[in-house]
Order: sequence, then C-alpha cells, then structure tokens
Amino acid sequence: MAVMDIVHYGDPILRKKCKHVQQFDGIDRLIADMFDTMYEADGIGLAANQVGLDLHLFIIDISHTEEADEPFIFINGDIIDSEGECEYDEGCLSIPGVTLNVVRPEAIDLKYQTEKGEWKKHTFTGLAARAIQHEIDHLNGVYIVDRVQEIDRMSVKSKLKEIEAQAKEEQKTRQTLQGYKF
Ligand code: NI
Repeated sequence: MAVMDIVHYGDPILRKKCKHVQQFDGIDRLIADMFDTMYEADGIGLAANQVGLDLHLFIIDISHTEEADEPFIFINGDIIDSEGECEYDEGCLSIPGVTLNVVRPEAIDLKYQTEKGEWKKHTFTGLAARAIQHEIDHLNGVYIVDRVQEIDRMSVKSKLKEIEAQAKEEQKTRQTLQGYKF
C-alpha cells in the first residue's frame, strides 16, 4: 500500500492539460497506489495530476451505490457525446472544505482505454457521469470553481486563497515521485 500526497488548488500541475498515456507497462502499480490514496482521503474519484503526475488517467469508485459493482479505471478518456443537464453539489479532494453546485450534462458517451490498453466505449449517467466529467475536467486543468458563476466563486474566495497558500508550501517540499516511468 502506498498513499501519495494529494496536490491542492493552486499547484501548476492542476492547470495542465495532461499527456496521453502511451506506455501501459507498470501502470497497474500506479493505479493501485491511486486507489490507496483515494480511499485514504474518502474520495470517489481521483485524477493522476491530483497526485502530481502529468498523465491522462483517472479512477472512480461509486460501488457504494447501486450504480456500480466495482471501481472504474479510465485511461485517455474522451467524452464524445453528451445529453441533458442537471445540477449537483460537488466537492473535490484538491479543494478541501469547498462544495459547489455545478451544472453539467446528465449523460455522456465516453471513449477510453483500460489498464491493458484496450479501447472501450460506454454511456454513463447518474453519479458515474458526474464523477467522470469532474475528473476529465481535472485532466484538462479545469476546477469546479471554473464551472460556477462569479457570485458562487466569490463565496469561496477566502477559502481558495487559504488552500492556494498551503499548496505553495507543499510544492516546496513535494518529493518528485520515484518509480513511475511513463
Ligand atoms: Ni476534484
């Protein structure tokens, strides 16, 4: 078990468009460590740049709901179609203590690769669609605060400043992740 440090709001890696995964050898270990990290933080989704890695990869576990029996792994995911609109209160492991009501499409078609590199396509709705869109946003450098109106953003401004200052401190001491070569 290896729990990694979660990168917080303000860290430049969370504004990056992440690189597509080309090398699948050894990715299982990284995915296992990401799951350990996500569970430790009580999250339901985690993107690779949230643990400091510039890779187009994210995981989701909503198996506590009736929507899914097992955790999801999505590599090089791309939303190719979407439908409807709904709102939901979203939190984010990189922005602790902040919850914002975000409007997003209700259903999505996602094209993605498995950890074996195999391409798949699937339609997602409900919490899965919500979580997938949140994580794909991360891999494009987008936060929930970018998805809400100015007035909502203002309401969390001081909290964001606080987290940003913390992220700056963490960057000074952050260890370069060893052993992951992709
Ligand atoms: Ni997040």
